[in-house]
Amino acid sequence: MDFEIVNRQILSPDIRRLEIRAPMIAAKVKAGQFVRICAEEGDNPVSLTVVDMDAGRGVITLIVHESSPSARKLGEMPINEMVYSILGPLGEASFVEKFGTIVCVATGPGIAQILPVARALKKTGNKLIGIIGARTKKELLLEAQMRLACHKIFVTTDDGSYERRGLATDLFRKLLIDLFPTKQVNKEEKIDRVYASGSVDMMETVCGLTRESGIATRVMIYPVMVDCAGMCGSCRIRVGGKTVLGCVDGPEFNGHDVDFQDLKIRMNAWEQV
Ligand code: FES
Repeated sequence: MDFEIVNRQILSPDIRRLEIRAPMIAAKVKAGQFVRICAEEGDNPVSLTVVDMDAGRGVITLIVHESSPSARKLGEMPINEMVYSILGPLGEASFVEKFGTIVCVATGPGIAQILPVARALKKTGNKLIGIIGARTKKELLLEAQMRLACHKIFVTTDDGSYERRGLATDLFRKLLIDLFPTKQVNKEEKIDRVYASGSVDMMETVCGLTRESGIATRVMIYPVMVDCAGMCGSCRIRVGGKTVLGCVDGPEFNGHDVDFQDLKIRMNAWEQV
């Protein structure tokens, strides 16, 4: 199978958008699923959400954050070059149905992970409110695509270099207060479900807020993955008192069941390797 790079776009100094020919994956992949990709034989694999798929052209779109040597090599590959391997689609597809009003909170690379799910939720008839954030304007990803995927969107940057200053979680807290001024839920305008994707701290804060308000919340978790086949155990996390695997049981989980303290310890342990 030839996995040819058919398009490449520089989104920021260390973020690339790649379109890669992978007809079998493009025909099967669903919102929320990901692939395991190696630029060259022997490289450490990189796990990436399939942000877009075009079954007609047989092409998938990936956003590559060049945060490791393998990801950098992949992101720097030129158009017409062949990627060594792509395994997928992997993981459970997002459960998409008509829930009502949905808020999608995403920061940094988490915006690429939430985008296909937001699109699928909108297509199914939900009303989508997006809250996206990044540290700086340069790091803000896929804003135009998120604007299309949502009925309403709020954008923030930590340093105030674009739109407004502050954290996405502060914006989300304000939205909850505006919609639930006294926490009553029998108002006409209410949030039926929340999706969060981004840093562990951000997702933990969002889940803390929605637990108080009784709003179902889904989070997208990408622990360190090696084989992506449920064999190596590198991606295990604690959810609902059980050990589960990010690569086969995820990447989407019930946010109120996730043990974020355990997740932080596991993520930090890998960063120190
Ligand atoms: Fe090895 Fe999930 S990546 S078990």
